[in-house]
Amino acid sequence: MIQTLQTASGNQFFFLSTRSTTLVVQRDPHGFLFAPYWGSRIPASDLSYLVAEIPRASYLADADGRKDFKLEQLPQLYPAYGYTDLRMPAFAFTYADGSRVTDLRCVGHRIYRGKHPLPGLPMVRPDAETETLELQLRDTVQGADVFIVLTVFAAHDALTQSVRVENHGNAPFRIDRICSVSMDLPDNRWEFLYLDGAWARESHICRQPVRQGCLSVGSLRGASSHAHNPFAALVDPGTDETHGEVYALHFVYSGNFLASAQVDMHQNTRFQMGLHPFDFDWTLEPGASFTAPEVVLIHGEQGLGQMSQRFHALYRDCLLPRAFAGKPRPVLLNSWEASYFRFTGESLTRLAGQAASVGAELFVLDDGWFGHRDDTTSSVGDWVPYREKLGGGLEALIQGIHGQNIAFGLWLEPEMVSPDSDLYRAHPDWVIQAPGRRIEKSRDEYVLDLSNPAVCDHLIGTISRLLSSYPIAYIKWDMNRNFTNLGSTWLPAYRQKEQAHRYMLGLYRVLDRLTTDFPQVLLEGCAGGGGRTDPGMLYYVSQIWISDDTDALERLPIQYGASLTLPAEAMGCHISAVPNHQTGRSLPLQTRAAVAMAGSLGLEMDPAALTPEERTQLTHAIARYKALRTTVQQGRLYRLKGLEDGNEYAWLFSSEDGAQVLVTYVQKRMCPNTITRRLRLRGLEPDAFYRDEAEGWVRSGRELAAVGLALGRIRTDAFARQWLLRRVEAPQT
Ligand code: GLA
Repeated sequence: MIQTLQTASGNQFFFLSTRSTTLVVQRDPHGFLFAPYWGSRIPASDLSYLVAEIPRASYLADADGRKDFKLEQLPQLYPAYGYTDLRMPAFAFTYADGSRVTDLRCVGHRIYRGKHPLPGLPMVRPDAETETLELQLRDTVQGADVFIVLTVFAAHDALTQSVRVENHGNAPFRIDRICSVSMDLPDNRWEFLYLDGAWARESHICRQPVRQGCLSVGSLRGASSHAHNPFAALVDPGTDETHGEVYALHFVYSGNFLASAQVDMHQNTRFQMGLHPFDFDWTLEPGASFTAPEVVLIHGEQGLGQMSQRFHALYRDCLLPRAFAGKPRPVLLNSWEASYFRFTGESLTRLAGQAASVGAELFVLDDGWFGHRDDTTSSVGDWVPYREKLGGGLEALIQGIHGQNIAFGLWLEPEMVSPDSDLYRAHPDWVIQAPGRRIEKSRDEYVLDLSNPAVCDHLIGTISRLLSSYPIAYIKWDMNRNFTNLGSTWLPAYRQKEQAHRYMLGLYRVLDRLTTDFPQVLLEGCAGGGGRTDPGMLYYVSQIWISDDTDALERLPIQYGASLTLPAEAMGCHISAVPNHQTGRSLPLQTRAAVAMAGSLGLEMDPAALTPEERTQLTHAIARYKALRTTVQQGRLYRLKGLEDGNEYAWLFSSEDGAQVLVTYVQKRMCPNTITRRLRLRGLEPDAFYRDEAEGWVRSGRELAAVGLALGRIRTDAFARQWLLRRVEAPQT
């Protein structure tokens, strides 16, 4: 709901309210825009006192020629560079006359139902309740207009914000920096919480107190990256799963980004997120516009659990591709760890048969099926079947695999090219490269320059032909290297710093076209595992392979961190062979299965190598997962343990209607002679009763929350246990 309020003193207020939160925007009589309040829901009333009561420091510059009007101390909605606020600005432009000073004043606004598409960019889609406030700001000297577009998702307790710049002047100007959100919070008590990582160690939760100065995370790698997810939150110290105030931002973008928390000399915290300003600029011609990707904003007062549930519901309902929304994700077997590059058509058909026999529904042929690819050194870009290796074409192979009663999916790495490929030989200029310098390889690959529309058209043509020619149910869309030696043979010299963003726009155009033309194909995103697990990709792909690390113990913190924002059905989680290929650990199958059941389940192994006992266990685990799949993939997640010492993890999925509950507990290292420990549950209805499937006891939700489940004596490392509870009628007494 968006309400407006005009006060006698000439202030205009906009109250952007969700079910339980409100963001207040204030337009003062001189056209300055403030965000004096963001927090739990409040009624619309004259809040002029909030800005008026801020004490002013005399040593700061006056703005607008008004004594003691100090922008540097005020909570601005979109602070400019070069005017009187000397903190980090939300944006900076360089005009044709060399000036970098911008003074934006609000000259109008529009409120409308729904939300307009963002040109060329992914975004959270509107639902029936969505309303948008668009504020128009103008710099009168230079003819720059900035539109702040704030959308309210009332039922989801979420907002989105994007920013559009228009050039109404007579000369081009340059955008040097552009955040999508800049929020000034009147406090410095926060902890900055974000996700750290690396290949095989993605999405580890980190937090540290903000301090005077700036804390930031970001990426300059050309992808949102393994190192940091474009997610950051300011939280009360001590915030845990159920307590604490949280302000979270998540960038709907898959490329270079920066998230920062700057504490100024008056202990305000400026929280920003947007395109990374380093090695970025954009020349805006007269009459042209530029849209900065949107950020999702979530506020809550009940800790990280509530925050995650809000992200999950929003992404489920309004972000993930419509064609697969609410549909069960298939249990798949991915051929990578089972056979790497070493296979024949026959061995693949046999592997697919094995997959089907333990209950998998989709067989994915990973790397090595195209060109003459037997290792990483060739053929990426030549998406034609390697007939000699496959023993024929793809058609025959797929037929054989379908004959095993299983669907077929394929691996592609469309954005890269091998130096040893027909594509590179035909178009050496299509690769990202800096003039006069060697093009450096990473995993034996170059990066295609997707800022060049001809490259994108080629990808659309090639992949469309593939998808039209063969019955392919699924594509694993991989991206195995980052950008180096940036440079485009296509862009003029003055637009070279636009390349990284234009690459993303190119990628989004390709994905948009393919998902529009082939909506029935399930896409799984991958970037050497979790190198691009962001909501930008989730607009096009229904799930993401969140890490190449398939060791169940390593997966615990990875899945925990990823689940801060990603709903379970969007996280690919596979049961792999032992010893594990990343860590060498041999963990019990029960533990591997329990951990992988926290997302969209898959297999990364050859079931033929299992002992008969393991095979039976695996078949049962898959059957059980299928029976519970809706509870996991569409239910509510409650993380019960994991933030504490990292030795114990536990989580609970409750079905949408609350009738079915799956509880999982994992302990990494056993500790001898401990006290009797219990696992207290959350997310149950206090007055409802639940029956434990295995032991048959019936207990109330209140009792299970207060007393908890007995963990018993745990005698092994890597211990896992699951409980399936069903809501039942009250027991007769
Ligand atoms: C990347 C992916 C893996 C696998 C290989 C194939 O590393 O993350 O899952 O697909 O590429 O080369």
